[in-house]
Amino acid sequence: DWTMAAFKQQAIEKIRAQVGTGKVICGLSGGVDSSVAAVLIHEAIGDQLTCIFVDTGLMRAGEAEEVVTLFRDHYNIPLVHRNASELFLGKLAGVTDPEKKRKIIGGLFIDVFDEESAKVGGAQFLAQGTLYPDVIESVSFTGGPSVTIKSHHNVGGLPERMKLKLVEPLRELFKDEVRALGRELGLPESFIRRHPFPGPGLAIRVPGEITPEKLDILRKADSIYLEEIRAAGLYDAIWQAFAVLLPVRTVGVMGDGRTYDHVLALRAVTSTDGMTADWYQFPHDFLARVSNRIVNEVRGVNRVVYDITSKPPGTIEWE
Ligand code: XMP
Repeated sequence: DWTMAAFKQQAIEKIRAQVGTGKVICGLSGGVDSSVAAVLIHEAIGDQLTCIFVDTGLMRAGEAEEVVTLFRDHYNIPLVHRNASELFLGKLAGVTDPEKKRKIIGGLFIDVFDEESAKVGGAQFLAQGTLYPDVIESVSFTGGPSVTIKSHHNVGGLPERMKLKLVEPLRELFKDEVRALGRELGLPESFIRRHPFPGPGLAIRVPGEITPEKLDILRKADSIYLEEIRAAGLYDAIWQAFAVLLPVRTVGVMGDGRTYDHVLALRAVTSTDGMTADWYQFPHDFLARVSNRIVNEVRGVNRVVYDITSKPPGTIEWE
């Protein structure tokens, strides 16, 4: 795509002009936007860029390792990998309110990010994968609705107290253009097509109290679900698909025994922007296969249900 090739070249020139010989830090979330921003900036200024990846312990199976492998090993981008899962899970222990969970995670994220960027030392710039829709949204928010449905915590919006100048090379792009730019930069297709994943991660997919055991059950079930979606060739037709581990136990029977285990809900929706969404109409045999595999392979789950609520009136996530 020659237009993206030209955009990339221009963006690289702009980054070089802005940054000069300065040092840049960039928070990686594992999502498309921050990844594309990081690779672009690295092409522009090489090792003047350091990426910081805060592992909250709330990511899906294998995801933290994927981020490290891709950025440190494949792209050779200087990467700080801070495993903060004990800290996050410790502060979240006993917390059940969804907004409290978000506040705790958002606050801790900023603290840990600050700490790690201070250790890197000497940075004058903070890179962010802000997109054009984010720019518009933050402007319209001032006159926007006064009701907060869910407070979003992203890698974006890091504190002013850090006194870093922002480098935002994706500010003029829409999501599909960011994907095209990612391809231009050679990011793997699987990475570029990833479903969106919320900043608070699996914390909002475990309604009620979060424990390491519950996260473990959820990760196993979620990866079976996504594996089957990919195998059926449905991944790209869906906006987001994920499992939710419900704080409800039900009675079941397995072999000659009685079980009393968790209910797992499956969610999949189509959408163009996440603002409205329709529940996805899987073939019944697909749902049967996923349900059988999860109940048979994941200890701790003995019942699977499918969420058939669109947005509105539901939201995409359960919390
Ligand atoms: P809802 O659940 O509000 O989600 O219909 C709309 C989109 O936003 C994502 N989402 C979040 N993303 N921090 C995020 O970064 C959050 O706290 C958060 N809550 C929801 C959700 O996954 C969907 O794509």
